Amino acid sequence: MQNYKIAVVAGDGIGPEVIAEGKKVMSAISEIDGGFSVEFTDFPWGCEYYLKTGEMMPEDGLKRLSDFDAIYLGAVGYPGVPDNVSLGGLLLKIRRGFDQYINLRPIKLLKGAPCPLKGVEPGDIDMVFVRENSEGEYADVGARLYPGTAREVALQTGVFSRHGMERVMRYAYKLASENGKTITSVSKGNALGYSMVFWDQMFEEIGKEYPEVKTYSLLADAASMFFVKNPKRFQVVVASNLFGDILTDLGAAIAGGMGLAAGANLNPERKYPSMFEPIHGSAPDIAGKGLANPMAAIWSVSQMLDFFGYKEWGSRIIDTIETMLIEKKALTPDLGGGAKTSEVGDAMVELLRK
Ligand code: NAD
Ligand code: IPM
Ligand code: MN
Repeated sequence: MQNYKIAVVAGDGIGPEVIAEGKKVMSAISEIDGGFSVEFTDFPWGCEYYLKTGEMMPEDGLKRLSDFDAIYLGAVGYPGVPDNVSLGGLLLKIRRGFDQYINLRPIKLLKGAPCPLKGVEPGDIDMVFVRENSEGEYADVGARLYPGTAREVALQTGVFSRHGMERVMRYAYKLASENGKTITSVSKGNALGYSMVFWDQMFEEIGKEYPEVKTYSLLADAASMFFVKNPKRFQVVVASNLFGDILTDLGAAIAGGMGLAAGANLNPERKYPSMFEPIHGSAPDIAGKGLANPMAAIWSVSQMLDFFGYKEWGSRIIDTIETMLIEKKALTPDLGGGAKTSEVGDAMVELLRK
């Protein structure tokens, strides 16, 4: 029987609370299915670990993760440790170190989910973001000169490589082609005359390999506007690291909130483990109170099951989330309910067993 070894980095704040529910759901599914098993190994890395040891994860952290079939991550970052230190030392280190260059983020308004937009129905918001996840504006290149003086300067350099753009665009075009979807590229070529002009050029170049795919290119500011005014026009969206980050929080906001937004950090070649996580952070404002919505973390389990090849289970999880949103029996306060985090996980398992 296939046994999946999953490394769990629950991390900070609400991370451990929501990850506990994802593990619960995943274990229940492997039991119900009977054809595979899952084995979790917990790593206590994060901000508390940093305050004790001076590191977000041990020096050989990546090596210790490298033999797992997947990484399941909660959230990283907490007041008391500078965000650039905590994220740079753990989450971004894993994304970069394992060349997880695709960040796949579905934005789908399920029936029963709250939507702040007028006149928008479930079905009107159904897109998938392919965010470049290894370079771009997030490249670790820069300098700080003359610190503490009147001449102080910060330099932060974006890195847009042909290799990096080709692979993310091919992935996005292929996804669009296989699913009969349109593709929209998010750009800012009107102001960023080097990086984004190259981005636009690559979008066109790679598009020639997929003549069947209908393409659109939008400037990032206009894209943000259309997210609110006409989200229906987006199907597959390809975006750089920073634009993808910002637009997927906006996407979460129009599709039920941060408690429902999931993401997969993929190394498509499977040379390294891929990482699955809710896209929200550690939510210090609600941490430790059982208020966190675990549905985003559970949705990312569905992405993990897709990645392992159990697409039916992947869809089943999303259908079950939708049933729960419609029934409104076990929802956390962000969705207008009164259930605790763990009660949402329990209710989900009960529905899956039916
Ligand atoms: P956040 O996503 O943690 O929270 C934003 C708002 O959304 C808060 O009001 C929070 O209560 C709410 N929220 C988030 N997830 C929720 C859930 N599951 N259920 C209900 N409500 C939820 O963003 P932030 O406050 O900007 O960041 C907090 C910390 O997390 C920072 O240190 C930041 O750097 C870090 N962060 C980490 C990740 C990650 O690990 N992937 C992602 C984003 C932010
Ligand atoms: C996300 C997060 C991260 C990002 C941060 C915490 C570094 O916001 O996964 O969306 O910007 O990629
Ligand atoms: Mn983000």
